[in-house]
Order: sequence, then C-alpha cells, then structure tokens
Amino acid sequence: MAYNTIQVKTEGRVGVITLDRPSALNALCDELTNELKDALAAFERDEDIGCVILTGSAKAFAAGADIKELQEKDFISLYKHDPFAESWESVARFRKPIIAAVSGYALGGGCEIAMMCDFIIASETAKFGQPEINLGVMPGAGGTQRLPRAVGKAKAMDMCLTGRMMPAKEAERAGLVSRVVPAEELLDVTMEAATTIASKSLPIAMMTKEAVNTAFEMGLAEGVRFERRVFQSQFATEDQTEGMAAFADKRAAHFKHR
Ligand code: HXC
Repeated sequence: MAYNTIQVKTEGRVGVITLDRPSALNALCDELTNELKDALAAFERDEDIGCVILTGSAKAFAAGADIKELQEKDFISLYKHDPFAESWESVARFRKPIIAAVSGYALGGGCEIAMMCDFIIASETAKFGQPEINLGVMPGAGGTQRLPRAVGKAKAMDMCLTGRMMPAKEAERAGLVSRVVPAEELLDVTMEAATTIASKSLPIAMMTKEAVNTAFEMGLAEGVRFERRVFQSQFATEDQTEGMAAFADKRAAHFKHR
C-alpha cells in the first residue's frame, strides 16, 4: 500500500512506521493520522509482526496536530467527526508492543502520540512539549492525562500551563522516556529493543502490555487480581510450555506465538 505522509517497512518481525511530512515537521493532518491508522491495522493483522516502531525525522517526531487544519474546525464539526476517536486513538488501541523513537520536536499531538506508545526512546535532540496553551486551547489527545501519569503533577502542570519544551535529559529523569541515546544511534538502539521484544512470545508480550496498562486504569487490588488471572491463563499457552522446557533443557526457546 502506498502512502503520502508515512513510510512503512518491515525488518524481520519488526514493523517500522516513519512519519514523513517534512514540509510541516510531520504535523498530524487528517491524511497522516488516517494513514497511520491504516498501517497499524495492517501490522495488527500481520502474524509475522511482533513489535512496531513509530518514528519521525531527525528534526521532528511530530510538531503536533496540523494547526492550519485545526483552524478550520468548529465545535460541531469536531464533535461529529472527532479525529481523535476516529484515527489518533488507533495508536493507544494498538494491541502489539509499539515503541516511539523520538528525535527533535514531539509537541502537542506529537507528544501525545508518543505517549500512547508503550515506551519512548529519545535522541539527545528530542524536545517534548504541550504548547497548545499558546494557541488558545489545551491538549486534546490525552496530554493532560498521560503526561501527569508519566512525569507527575508538577512537571505536567509546568509544561501544559507554560507551554515550555522539556529536553531529552529532563524527560528521562522525569520518567517520560525510557532511554536517551545519541541521535545517530536512535534507530539502531530502538530496532535492537524491538527485535528483542519481537523474539518473545507475541501473545505473552501482548498480555504483559495489557497488564502494565491496567496499572493506569485500576486500583492496586483489582490490578493485582487481573495480573494473577492473566498469569494463570498463560499456562494454557504452548509458549509457556516451550519457554520453561527450553530453560530446563538449557537451550533457546522457540516460541510459536500461541
Ligand atoms: C501545521 C506546522 C506545524 C503544525 C510546524 N508547521 N508545526 N504546520 N501545524 N503543528 C510548519 C510551519 O508552518 C512551517 O511551514 C514548517 O512547518 C516549518 O516550521 P517552522 O515554524 O518554520 O520551523 P521552526 O522555526 O524550526 O520552528 C519549529 C517549531 C514551530 C518550534 C516546532 O514550527 C512550532 O512551534 N510549531 C507548532 C507547534 C505546536 O504548537 N504544536 C501543537 C499543535 S496543537 P511553512 O509552510 O511556513 O514553511 C495540537 C493539538 C492536538 O497538537 C489535539 C488533538 C485532538
């Protein structure tokens, strides 16, 4: 499938989606988010994909929603055709592991899409921000919810109310990103992590992701009960039998993803 605003490729069991709208610093126009949704759906269906990387260019992961498109919207058009529900949320709904590899600007919706991924690996040049307040609005794709869960109230308020950008090192200290690497190593390091994840049992990785995400939605007692039940259910998979047999036999496990 040919796309206009993203590039898609696979490397082994890893799918890579590169946001590719350089003239607008990968601003998330409707065409781009629809193409992103489509590419994710294809990777979700593809049995041979075990992990996805979402990335942008060296200068920008994404500079936010397309402000020129947003300018044309009014309440009723946004309400009736909610782009967030229709396409953006496809990233948050994606069931396989997905890593954001961020270099340069991740602003507004760009920061929000990165936060919808399971974790973020950032280059030293990455800058995160929720500058919507400068445009007379507030974050609208999860920024006021996911950012405080990642960095705590003080930094989330600081970023959302001042609109300032948070550099990569601060983002790592605050817990927004899992690792910071030199810009030229970003894709290699992310590919190594994605390949490692994709070598595991896919259903077990999916259940692990689901359980970790549950920590943000449930209280501790419910969350632990959910975890225990999912853990028990994993003993119905062939991959659990294989993983434990391989350990006992002192050999590498050959997961069949079932
Ligand atoms: C549309 C954008 C854009 C955006 C950049 N461009 N960001 N177009 N929407 N979000 C375009 C510029 O208009 C310009 O096009 C080209 O990209 C290069 O940008 P410059 O501003 O010339 O680059 P630079 O001086 O390097 O500044 C980079 C920047 C700045 C600091 C990132 O572009 C910027 O502040 N962008 C807006 C960031 C922002 O406010 N994001 C939040 C959007 S609201 P031309 O044609 O002039 O060359 C949002 C809400 C989400 O995300 C809600 C979801 C439901």
